[in-house]
Formats: sequence, structure tokens, C-alpha cells
Amino acid sequence: MNMKAVRIHAFGGPEVLSVDQIPLPQPLDDEVTLRVRAASVNPIDYKIREGSTGQALPVTLGRDVSGVVEMCGTRAHTFKKGDPLFAMLGNDRGGNAEYVVVKATELAAKPERLSHVEAAAVPLAGITAWQGLFDHGGLESGQRLLIHGGGGGVGHLAIQFAKAAGAFVATTVSAEDTVFVRELGADQAVDYKDERFEEVVEEVDVVFDLVAGDTQDRSWKVLKPGGTLVSTLSRPSQEKARLHRARGVSYLAEPNAAQLAQIGRLIDDGKVTPFVQTTYPLAQVAKAEERLENDHVRGKIVLEVSA
Ligand SMILES: NC(=O)c1ccc[n+]([C@@H]2O[C@H](COP(=O)([O-])OP(=O)(O)OC[C@H]3O[C@@H](n4cnc5c(N)ncnc54)[C@H](OP(=O)(O)O)[C@@H]3O)[C@@H](O)[C@H]2O)c1
Repeated sequence: MNMKAVRIHAFGGPEVLSVDQIPLPQPLDDEVTLRVRAASVNPIDYKIREGSTGQALPVTLGRDVSGVVEMCGTRAHTFKKGDPLFAMLGNDRGGNAEYVVVKATELAAKPERLSHVEAAAVPLAGITAWQGLFDHGGLESGQRLLIHGGGGGVGHLAIQFAKAAGAFVATTVSAEDTVFVRELGADQAVDYKDERFEEVVEEVDVVFDLVAGDTQDRSWKVLKPGGTLVSTLSRPSQEKARLHRARGVSYLAEPNAAQLAQIGRLIDDGKVTPFVQTTYPLAQVAKAEERLENDHVRGKIVLEVSA
């Protein structure tokens, strides 16, 4: 049996994305085949497509899925056919396809409150936010946090996790997102095109950097001594970290079903809600990636894969 998968056979622009017919993947003993209902688009998709990670080709893109169990491996007893699940996929598999095989240990129950489209917006961005804030940033209740890029996929979830954890949250965003992030709970929204954040934000315990470059460099000024600058993009200067008596770390988010399940509980408790700006059918993934890379996107863009 064959299925549709959006693959790339060469690095390049959106035109290299091709809708291929490939054999349905079979699960190993400890894996589960999901029928993908929705998959979200992340910056890593266009970065892989453009060749910045040097991934082996051909490759199916897409690291986020929400779907239902189609088939279980002989040792994947926890799940049964039809269960609604969501997952952040490892970098050796792709969710922009009708079916995907996922390690049983990387799957979590889809939040009941969400549709598959909404659920697909959560895993990679949510796990990245969780690991950045809590595992690497050590954020605690009562602390002060600055998030750069609070209106995007990772940022809009990070704001809500930090508020649920009892932190004060300042965030840099474009003018059109200031109301959005305040509605998500941000205490202070700084229009990065109009104001210099270091003049209006002070004494934070953690900076969560989703932007890098000059923005990262200027962030040392707002950190308390003993604070932490955490970046998803580039390793902060260790020399500047020492100078400011702070820590500077970068990291790569890893699939983590326990954290995803915890995020799912916050969602079902009504404390966190993902925002999907728009959806595209799977066949229009090129348009979706182009939009995420070049336009202003609030929250996430999601691909509708099957009904
Ligand atoms: N290390 C990891 O494991 C990991 C995991 C996930 C993501 N990432 C990386 O982290 C970054 C963010 O991911 P994402 O999914 O949140 O991307 P996204 O949805 O594209 O969001 C990026 C946000 O940054 C904002 N922004 C751009 N320039 C800014 C500036 N100078 N100051 C403040 N905000 C600015 C954008 O707002 P405007 O559109 O208004 O400019 C946008 O809302 C990406 O580069 C991604 O590749 C890394």
C-alpha cells in the first residue's frame, strides 16, 4: 500500500517540495504508525529544505503531528487502533505525510479540548519552550523573564507556560502582536521595531532568546547577576556571560513524551491554548513554508493532512 508524502530530493526553495507516492511505513516492535490528521510547520522545515542542516536526501519534512493510531508494533502495548495522539518527531522521520511511524515512547494523548489541527501546533514549539524555560533556564515561580519573539510559534506558548508557573513575563514583539501577547498573559510587551527593550525592561532572571544576533547581544544588560540567557539559535558569548556574572546556554529541543503530556494537561485545564493563524492542505506545504519564512505569522501555521 502506498501513501502521499511531501519530500525533497534536492536542497533549495519551496519549488523542491514534491508530493510523492511512497510505501506505507511499517512500525518496529516499539513503534506506532499514526494516520496523520494534521502537521504543523516550523522554521526547521525550511532550514532543512534550504540545506542548512545537511540532512541525507530524500527526506520527508515535518516534525509535528496529531493523528490516530493505525497500527501498533508488537511491544507498543500502551496504545490501540484509533487512539488520538500527538508527538514531536525525531529528526529521522517526517510528518508531512498521510502516515508516520513514531516511537511509542515519544507519543502523548492528544489534549481532549483541542482539534487535531490545534494539537499539531503544540509539540515541537511547546517542548522547545518547556525545555528552554525550565530545563535550561531553571525558571521558577516569582522570577522575571524576558522572551524575545513572544508572538511566534515557540514564544506564544512560552508566555503561557511561564505565566502558569508564576513568573513575571516581558516580551519583545511587533506592534501588531502587543495586544495578542497581553491577552496570553504577558505583563509587558515591547515593540521591538520602535523601542529598545534594554531601556524599558530590567533585572530579569531569565532571557529566552528566539531571535539571536544583536538582540541576544543586547540582552546581557537586562539580566540580573546569576541570571541565565537561553537561546534556541546560537551559543551566547561565554566571555560576556562571565563579564555579567550570568550563564549563557543554547540547546536543541528533544522529543519528550512526559513533558508533552504535562503540556497536554495544562491545555486541558484551560491554562494554555495554542494559536493557529491559518491552515493549508498538505499539498500546499510550499505556500505554508514560504509564508512562515517571509511573512509576519502569529502563533502557528498548520497543514491539514486527512479528514
Ligand atoms: N534549538 C531548537 O531546538 C529550536 C526549536 C524550535 C525553534 N528553534 C528556532 O527558534 C526560532 C523561533 O522559532 P519559532 O517557531 O517561534 O519561529 P516563528 O514562529 O517564526 O517566530 C519567530 C518570532 O520572532 C519574532 N521576531 C523576529 N525578529 C525579532 C526581533 N528582532 N525581536 C523580537 N522578535 C522578533 C517574529 O515576529 P515578527 O514576525 O513580528 O517579526 C516571530 O513572531 C527559530 O529560528 C527556530 O528555528 C530552535
